[in-house]
Amino acid sequence: MTDGVTSDDRRSLGPGRRSTDWNPRPQGNGAGCRVVDLPRITDPRGNLTMIEGGDHVPFDIARVYYLYDVPGGESRGGHAHRDLQQLIVAASGSFDVVVDDGTETERFHLNRSYHGLYVPRLTWRELGNFSSGSVCLVMASLPYSEDDYYREYDDFADARRAAEAAGELAATPAPA
Ligand code: TYD
Repeated sequence: MTDGVTSDDRRSLGPGRRSTDWNPRPQGNGAGCRVVDLPRITDPRGNLTMIEGGDHVPFDIARVYYLYDVPGGESRGGHAHRDLQQLIVAASGSFDVVVDDGTETERFHLNRSYHGLYVPRLTWRELGNFSSGSVCLVMASLPYSEDDYYREYDDFADARRAAEAAGELAATPAPA
């Protein structure tokens, strides 16, 4: 992307980022996707990560869904959303998420249960390269609605350009 911050830079941030660490990109500078380090409570009995809407993600969580039993070589996604914001976590295993703001693409490799990829509205995404047994956990800001989908890339690109022209894509506000 154009700001010189690589995916590796983002992933190297220390654990336990809180809401005040949200640092959205300015409008027009990429899709605004970023990897967040979620809090971890490490324990010899097994580690624990929690996600609270409005704290660890900049939206209230209205829906949770997950992809699993993805056959090797399959891909998911291939759409964008009008209003939906999401946090995508590799709860188990690993996969890639390629995001596209209509101008630029960026690939994120998710392979830690305590990393979440924030995906704002009007972002085209493709998920692939799923490892065997991986689980893709998604926190979503809205209930499911087919009306919220752009399933044709050109429709998404037109909507993205219109939103940018209307100044609708201001930086995501940090949660209270
Ligand atoms: P979709 O979001 O299109 O997944 P992908 O892009 O990875 O293929 O969803 C696949 C199907 O599941 C589609 O028919 C809509 C349905 N669906 C729901 O009914 N509720 C949901 O919360 C989600 C995410 C999908």
